[in-house]
Amino acid sequence: MSKQIHLVSFLINSPINHTVLSWAAPGDNRLEALHDLKLWQDLARTLERGRFDGIFFADTPGVFDRYRDSYADAVKYGVCWPSLDPVVLLSALAAATTHLGLATTMSTSSYQPWTIVRQLGTIDYLSGGRAGWNIVTGHLRGEHRALGLEQLDHDRRYDRADEYMEVCYKLWNSIKPGAILADREKGVFADPDKVEFIDHQGDFFSCQTVAPVPPSPQGRPVLFQAGSSGRGQQFAVSHADVVFSIQPNVPGMKRFKANLEDAARAAGQKAPGVSFGIQPIVGGTEEEAKRKLDDLVERLPIDGCLARLSGTMGVDFAGMELDQPLADIETQASQGLMKAFANIEGDKPLTLREVAIRWGLAVGKPQIVGTPEQVADRMEQIWRETDCYGYNITPTVMASSVEDFVDQVVPILQKKGVYRTEYEGTTFRANLGLD
Ligand SMILES: Cc1cc2nc3c(=O)[nH]c(=O)nc-3n(C[C@H](O)[C@H](O)[C@H](O)COP(=O)(O)O)c2cc1C
Repeated sequence: MSKQIHLVSFLINSPINHTVLSWAAPGDNRLEALHDLKLWQDLARTLERGRFDGIFFADTPGVFDRYRDSYADAVKYGVCWPSLDPVVLLSALAAATTHLGLATTMSTSSYQPWTIVRQLGTIDYLSGGRAGWNIVTGHLRGEHRALGLEQLDHDRRYDRADEYMEVCYKLWNSIKPGAILADREKGVFADPDKVEFIDHQGDFFSCQTVAPVPPSPQGRPVLFQAGSSGRGQQFAVSHADVVFSIQPNVPGMKRFKANLEDAARAAGQKAPGVSFGIQPIVGGTEEEAKRKLDDLVERLPIDGCLARLSGTMGVDFAGMELDQPLADIETQASQGLMKAFANIEGDKPLTLREVAIRWGLAVGKPQIVGTPEQVADRMEQIWRETDCYGYNITPTVMASSVEDFVDQVVPILQKKGVYRTEYEGTTFRANLGLD
């Protein structure tokens, strides 16, 4: 089969996906979905009808509490608050679908390795091999304050996450083929000689046990990773099946990919594919699509945008000059995103206000605005130009923006021959074309 664009839908189990105050847009159904599972299941089925590789949840454990050193703006505008659990939701979405990949972000600061192997392994096992994990190390101060944890510095979090992954691999690889006998006559469930006892004692973790869940048809969950600093890319080339990146423009995408390939070469690894974040906005005419974008921008409260931006960047932007270029401020939170937006290439530097608005719209993902044909053409063009794996798509108004994309853009991509018309396999790994 020729190369295809891979698509995942990038969502959050909160009042918004990423667009601040999208819940207040006319026709948006997210507030209803927060307490109506059926709407989430309908959405998952729509994505499956659109042959998406997967649904993919970001997660904000805790609350954005950096801006003005307070939680107030996040709560006032519903910026990822309330923050409902995506793992619990995924199990309900597994029941409503048959092919859709089921990925979620889980932070190595919030969970122990055994817990992640167990929770995601249960979804993977029950869904016939459709689980995925976006490995994040915990850049949010609010996450650590919620759990009463000390927040390690940026690079130290990655050192800890490397050992974290070592424990996960041990658990994932410890049940050998043929271990499960389920022999009703003899009354023997499994062969203990084929179930290895893990005895891990390291700098950060201690784990003495056996794996809690048998391997699924895809072996273990698909691993995504979204760190974009130098240390983050080092981690990604060691562990990720697919890397997820947010870049402000095409030069940034190319630069990110070249750096990742350098990091892979230095580590003697093959570079994983990169899925870039985008936010398509589709209209019957170009003017209608632009009006939809303007409507979203007009609704954005600048304090809600800054609450989000301050959280991600680990910097309190209160009191800073909004119309000055964003400075590359030293941070222990997301160094990769700070660098990407403070050093924008091929354009004039972005002011703090412009970056805050981009954050309020889609945490910095570029918008692709136009008719279905224009959106499909631009997606194909960026895919060819950057040689990316595909896209993490952030919807705007729910669920109409997802339905518009599936009904209007997907058929054009299919007609171009760059997007599947049927799933190739039954597991997430198989559909992503991974080994
Ligand atoms: C595209 C993208 C998506 C991310 N999604 C999440 C998320 O949902 N939850 C979270 O806690 N961190 C998330 N992060 C944070 C990163 O995983 C990472 O911890 C942070 O960016 C700091 O690492 P870096 O400097 O290497 O980028 C995301 C980062 C990027 C670039």
